[in-house]
Amino acid sequence: MCFKISHCFLLVALATCFFLLQPADSAQPAGENKLEIFSWWTSGGESAALNALFDVYKKQNAGVEIVNAAVSGGGGSAARPVLQTRLAGGNPPDTWQTHPGYELIGQYVDPGYCEPINELYKTDGWDTAFPKELVVNLMTKDRKIYSVLAGIHRGNVLWYNTKLLEKNGIKVGDQMTFDQSFAACDKLKAVGVPALGVGDSGIWASAQLFENTLLGVIGAKGWVDLFDGSMQWDDPKVKEAMKLFAKMQDYLNPDHTALSWDQAIKALMDGKVAFSSMGDWADGEFLKANLKEKEDFGWVSHPGTDGSFIVVADGFTLAKGAPHKEAAMAWLKSIGSKEAQEAFNPLKGSIPARTDVDRSKFDGYHQWSMDSFSKDKLLASCVHGEAAPAAFQQALNDAVTAFVVDKNIDNFANTLVEAVKESQSAK
Ligand code: BGC
Repeated sequence: MCFKISHCFLLVALATCFFLLQPADSAQPAGENKLEIFSWWTSGGESAALNALFDVYKKQNAGVEIVNAAVSGGGGSAARPVLQTRLAGGNPPDTWQTHPGYELIGQYVDPGYCEPINELYKTDGWDTAFPKELVVNLMTKDRKIYSVLAGIHRGNVLWYNTKLLEKNGIKVGDQMTFDQSFAACDKLKAVGVPALGVGDSGIWASAQLFENTLLGVIGAKGWVDLFDGSMQWDDPKVKEAMKLFAKMQDYLNPDHTALSWDQAIKALMDGKVAFSSMGDWADGEFLKANLKEKEDFGWVSHPGTDGSFIVVADGFTLAKGAPHKEAAMAWLKSIGSKEAQEAFNPLKGSIPARTDVDRSKFDGYHQWSMDSFSKDKLLASCVHGEAAPAAFQQALNDAVTAFVVDKNIDNFANTLVEAVKESQSAK
């Protein structure tokens, strides 16, 4: 497969009916002092961080009423279809949350739903404040820039409940291999504790576990090859990752299909499960619950992925025909400010996209993630819409859904090989 387009990042190249659902007041004539912001940030940690962005904005823009049009559902699984319906119906929010890469360009820029915001990059010194390659490779088309990032999450993190592991005599060092993690899983299983907490009521959380496991087996180079078409989805290494992912299913919390991602993290906090492989928005939940790093919870890279950083970045757009354009521009300007990045990211679990922030304002996890971002291989997430077109992202979710039931590796692999072909012929 080849998802090679100019903004297709493999960031390794870098460093190495919804009119019904819309808030009733969002169709105000231009000039109204309002701003409608669309996102999927509704979990405890996500809301707290979003509110921090609102607070900074309100301080800078007194008198503008914010309409929070968030649609819950982790990973944007429920929000994105709502947004698409609104956009297609000519009823856009002023600005919306998006991942860079294929999602931004393919879903929103190509169909003509976004306005470029180059002027902000020029006037606010963002040309130097944000990692240039990220902006150029993932958020630019025909020299026009379409988004500003609020923060950058690391997708490949394995979180754990420190006390539960201690109680069961399990030690985690700076890194964990698959063998070590399965040994820990067996130990926990023997005392009736489900080792691996998953909340895949939205299947993306299982797909995330697979994505992290895949990287753990094929490595950063394999990741680049897989997404630029040099490696196929039925490669023996990919199948090896599928096998490990199948094995992991034996250690999941039995209620995983009924839980959302944040409920699974809550189960970890409550000591009902020991580990969870999840992006560092999980950190936002720990912080919201006032848990202490190391004492209550800890983290390592998902097994095998040390040295790689799966980028899950959150940006905001300017809608073409934004009902409140001026307020929306001010929102984007605010998000890109140091003040907003320093207020939002410590609560969200992500690191600031700006590279000139005051690091002392961040806790141990953030320091760890910032270090990783600066030295590790940066890779785009497929599960979060960056590394491949939306059709393939959906195909992966569907294939994961089937696989967790039938555990048929050949079917899983072949389905994805076909999905690549289909998504290419759709271009
Ligand atoms: C977003 C995060 C969000 C997570 C869970 C990801 O796609 O990038 O900001 O917290 O989904 O909802």
